[in-house]
Amino acid sequence: MIKDVVFLPMGMRAPADPERTLLELAQAAGVPMVGTCGGKGQCGKCRVLPMGDTNPATGLEVGLLGQAAGQGLRLACHLRMANGGRVWLPVESRLEGQKILTAGQGGVLDLDPVVRLHRLMVAPAALDDPVAAGPRLLRALNKRAPAVDRLGLGVLRDLPKSLAQSHGNVTVIVRKGRKVTGVVPGHQGRCLGLAVDLGTTTVVVYLLDLHTGQSLAVRAAMNPQVTIGDDVVTRLTYCNQSHKQASTLSSLATECVNHLAREACAEAGVLPSEIYECVMVGNTAMHHLFLGLDPQGLAVAPYSPVESSGLKVRARDVGLALAPEARLYWLPVKAGFVGADTVALTLALDAAALEQPTLILDLGTNGEMVLASGGRLMCCSAAAGPAFEGGHIGQGMRGAPGAVERVAINGRGLKTVLKVIGGIPPLGMCGSGLVSAVAALLSAGVLTSAGAFKENLPGVRPGSKGLEFVLAEAESTGKGQDLVLTSADVAELQLAKAAIRAGAELLMATMGVPRLERVLLAGAFGNYMEPAEALAIGLFPTIALSNIVGVGNAAGTGALMALASEKARCRAESLASSMEYLELSGHPLFRDYFLDHLPFPLPIAEGSSKDAVCA
Ligand code: FES
Repeated sequence: MIKDVVFLPMGMRAPADPERTLLELAQAAGVPMVGTCGGKGQCGKCRVLPMGDTNPATGLEVGLLGQAAGQGLRLACHLRMANGGRVWLPVESRLEGQKILTAGQGGVLDLDPVVRLHRLMVAPAALDDPVAAGPRLLRALNKRAPAVDRLGLGVLRDLPKSLAQSHGNVTVIVRKGRKVTGVVPGHQGRCLGLAVDLGTTTVVVYLLDLHTGQSLAVRAAMNPQVTIGDDVVTRLTYCNQSHKQASTLSSLATECVNHLAREACAEAGVLPSEIYECVMVGNTAMHHLFLGLDPQGLAVAPYSPVESSGLKVRARDVGLALAPEARLYWLPVKAGFVGADTVALTLALDAAALEQPTLILDLGTNGEMVLASGGRLMCCSAAAGPAFEGGHIGQGMRGAPGAVERVAINGRGLKTVLKVIGGIPPLGMCGSGLVSAVAALLSAGVLTSAGAFKENLPGVRPGSKGLEFVLAEAESTGKGQDLVLTSADVAELQLAKAAIRAGAELLMATMGVPRLERVLLAGAFGNYMEPAEALAIGLFPTIALSNIVGVGNAAGTGALMALASEKARCRAESLASSMEYLELSGHPLFRDYFLDHLPFPLPIAEGSSKDAVCA
């Protein structure tokens, strides 16, 4: 008899299989668990506690787990449970409770949707009015929508049946004010639209009434592809291994969007079959994976996408369970690592109208940025690595309950005060906590500008990877081991911030912009990060603190604008084609800029103005 592996506390089950690791079983069963490095045995994040006998932990597991190995924890990507059994997922291994940013700043919704519904009564043909069915429909329709003059062949094929079924009472779907793309028997309800921001880490859907412009519901979830790997590169590698794996990634995203659409509709008391238009944005890898485009070109130089224009497809052709006639529009992408999400945020922020030099930055595993100045736009993408999302950090985790998000270090005794998401004992550190910790340690003089810990200070001690700083001792944490920031963690942040800073400086140099007037921080990390701390680690070029502004999920706002208005959609197309692109990989000056900005800035002297600038 096949036994099951039961994942607790969810109670989800997967048939035991001696050939597959626990992580592979979890992925196949849709168990929402962390698999940061895609099961390569590099991250040490896929921790589980088997509740019964297993084979002993490998040396690699012990090395990655440290103290936690002594508590019986194992790595799911190294553990097989051939006979089944129960396994506990610690909080930090679960993909739940993540803070997800849904609100965005920018753009006003003009209501001018590409799709409209018209409820009509089409008179039957008669001997004294023997007009064909198509022209009869147009005759009735033109009283309301005079510009409509086209009927597709598919519509003509179904038209007699639709008219007969409902005695001439039909709902006509008109696109772009000119073309009939569907005729449905009876008088259908609402004309709804769905805007989707498909991020590497999170997915947000917005349900909009396309007739009134009213926002009906917003739903968000973790992108389930995270169980395959946290970052885009891991997913592209997974996808490029087999066609089946590529379709697994695609289905995970599609199912997530369908699930969120159903939830949003349930909240609003409407049906997914009333959604006639969907607009999606996301980075180029998400775009390719969702649409089933071959992403191999994104993994190797020159990182060329299969298609960059805005794409219109039937929603059902990509697995979206909306109205049968629904269409999907993906905003254009700019380059292999500058996606439709960046185009959407330039639309939301009306970037082309920004006269003063403004850096728009969306921080994740890639730092996508746009420099706007005097109507000119230039973008680039800097490979920051996963540090800003808590990845590649010894005790890093996502911004979920238990993650340290803010650190203060007080007095000569270097007493540490932690702010933890959910107000529970700390389990790890998220990206904003990492930036905060390093900023606090720089300010307290514990870290040098080179990123080295000073010896013989309270809290500083030797660790397995050089010196480390104890943020919290085992008895006050939620996982029974000290919470530490290691020299390797600091170096990881240094590399990430130097890449972002170098990208920003190169954009400025290329456009001849000597200084910035504003920095707009888009996305979750930008929203939760303290601007003063970002300045303290030297993430941005010199700027007054008050001129750094968080704009929330502006990409989501851009998607909503393109959903509500055809004109906004045209503006997005024109922004994508007029925006210049700067390729950083292989740029002759990138390395110099990167090395110049590896050191942290020296702390601002105490008592200086809050609006002080930081070099
Ligand atoms: S070590 Fe298991 S997923 Fe990374």
